Amino acid sequence: MDYQIKPLSDKLGAEINGLDLRVPMDAETTTTINNAFVDAVILVFRDQELTAQQFFDAAQQLGEPMDQHLSQYKVPECPMVSYVSNQERSNDGKRKLLGKAWHTDHSFQPEPPKATLLHGVELPKRGGDTWFANMRLAYEELSPTLKQRIEGLEAIHAYRESRDYLTKEEREAEALTDEEERAKNIVHPVIRTHEVTGTKAIYINPLRIKRFIGLNSEESADLIDELTMHATSDNFTYPHSWQQGDVIIWDNRQAMHRVEHNYDFAEKRLMHRIILKGGKPK
Ligand code: SIN
Repeated sequence: MDYQIKPLSDKLGAEINGLDLRVPMDAETTTTINNAFVDAVILVFRDQELTAQQFFDAAQQLGEPMDQHLSQYKVPECPMVSYVSNQERSNDGKRKLLGKAWHTDHSFQPEPPKATLLHGVELPKRGGDTWFANMRLAYEELSPTLKQRIEGLEAIHAYRESRDYLTKEEREAEALTDEEERAKNIVHPVIRTHEVTGTKAIYINPLRIKRFIGLNSEESADLIDELTMHATSDNFTYPHSWQQGDVIIWDNRQAMHRVEHNYDFAEKRLMHRIILKGGKPK
């Protein structure tokens, strides 16, 4: 297949035109795409019209899909694919708008997904951008003092239903020792080495980190804020403005993302989502 890869920005991202994900890739194409993926952190495949099943088949060319824990968001005809929709409401009738704060996917799991794929099925006419932060570049550009401060540091990640940031009070509410946290929750390094490239990236999830090992809640909240402010500055981010037919894959090992819900809610925004198995962060 005759396809082209070109950068989307000087921070991260590359777009691929002319590749039909319904057609199995040959070995050479698979290698090229995988190399471009780990290098660019996110890839956008343009002009893909895929059913949920075709999306799932395509994803298997890029990794091993894993099950998602929130069963209420599975696509009925293909349950390994889930959906992200602006039409969902909580019990109190409020619109559920997920993913609006910076995060990396499923960091509360011992082996978080290496990548997430999103297919824009129905898009608002404008807005609803997904923002990405290049956490590898953010690590490279970290001040020597901050780099030294996070060297060897570990973070306690915990699942909670709400996808809002933890307040300082919430972080303090449940005071457990480091050892109790290790037994109850998941602990990951704050500097993560990429399995494929050996490069380092800041690995934080402001939505899921309770605190850092050896630091109290307040010190942890301040450090999370400092790292997040640095990593999500204009120097390291790219907002993706969706086009019909876009399929994006991003590397959770070296990216954070968030969605901007800045569109008319009368319009539907529906994404199909697949996560790919990853290893234990090291
Ligand atoms: C997500 O956070 O996984 C959803 C991103 C989006 O809807 O653009």
